[in-house]
Parts: sequence; structure tokens; C-alpha cells
Amino acid sequence: MSLKKVSENQPENFKFTEVNLAEAKDEIKKYPKGKQASAVMSLLNIAQKQNNNWIPLAAVKYIAAFLGMPYIKVYEVVTFYSMFNLSPVGKYFVQVCTTTPCMIRGAKKITSICKKLISDREKVLSKNNLCSWTEVECLGSCVSAPIMQINQDYYEDLDEKKTEDIIKNILDDKLPPAGSSRNRKNTSPENGRTTLLEVKNA
Ligand code: FES
Repeated sequence: MSLKKVSENQPENFKFTEVNLAEAKDEIKKYPKGKQASAVMSLLNIAQKQNNNWIPLAAVKYIAAFLGMPYIKVYEVVTFYSMFNLSPVGKYFVQVCTTTPCMIRGAKKITSICKKLISDREKVLSKNNLCSWTEVECLGSCVSAPIMQINQDYYEDLDEKKTEDIIKNILDDKLPPAGSSRNRKNTSPENGRTTLLEVKNA
């Protein structure tokens, strides 16, 4: 397992915005009294969204104090899960699935496009600092292979042209609509349903 890269350029302070503070308090309310530490992943997620897709160490300390947890416990969580970034990844973070079904369906071409258009190396920002990319294991949508995830959304059924279009758009600070590039609804067949025809909204 590779060690997570921790940014050298750390802001000194972090605190939730008013809106995010209210959201964090709502998350804590979902757990029984005294078990507020269970909200740690939700709060890290809020911090990551607030801070342009990465979590500075000041935010880890802030959340530890907020939840009454030792700093090291929050640090253990944030360094364990790959969904948390500890260094800047840009406003648009592209995760390309390179597990077998996506690889068979052309994931290599997608990573080549990322190398050509975004950056030669994974997790290195594009020249305009807007975007970076990385390879990931199965994103759980093999039926729409090959796919990539940009921030929270999936871009599915990709080919070279569609991938180039999407990457060029995000480099231009425009996020194209997510979903299938062949206009499939969710993961249904391209020519309409063939089963469960009697079930409404299946
Ligand atoms: S192999 Fe790519 S989503 Fe499963």
C-alpha cells in the first residue's frame, strides 16, 4: 500500500463555514449522546468539500477538537480511506477505474488521455491547478465500463472522444453532465428494457 502524500503547504487554521457547521451538527445528532465520534467520516467529508477536495492537517485537528477525539484517532481515519485527500487535487479530481472489466473495455486509453491533457503523473495538478487524476480500483459500476469518477459523479460508457471532451471541459472549469455517454438510463439496455416489463419504474 502506498503512503498518502501529505501536502507541504498547510494552512495554519481551519474552521467550518456557518452552513457547514450547521451540517456537521446535524450529522452528530444522528448518533446517540456520547457517541459523537461516529460522525468523524461525515465531518471529514464536509471539510474536504469545503476545502476544494482536500483535507489540511488543521482541519484534522479542528475535527478532533470538535468531536472530543484524540488527534491521532482522526489522523488514523483520514490516512486509511482513499476517499480522503491530504494534498491539493484541484477543483476537479478525476479517478479512473483500471480494474479488469474497465481495463478490458479501454481504461488504458482513458489514463493516456489524462496523462496527455492533465498531467504526466498521477495526483499532480494540471498547469492551471484546476485538475488532477489518479488510477483507482473497481468503482462498482463495471456494467458501464469503462468509467471514471469526477468528484462525486460517475462518467460511464466512455470512449476516447467522449473522455477527451469531458477532460477538456473540466480544464476549462466547466463540469459536463454525469452519467452514460451513450445515454443509457442508469444501467438499462441501450434499446430499452427487456425484462421486468410489467413493473412500473423498474
Ligand atoms: S471494474 Fe471498473 S467499475 Fe468495476
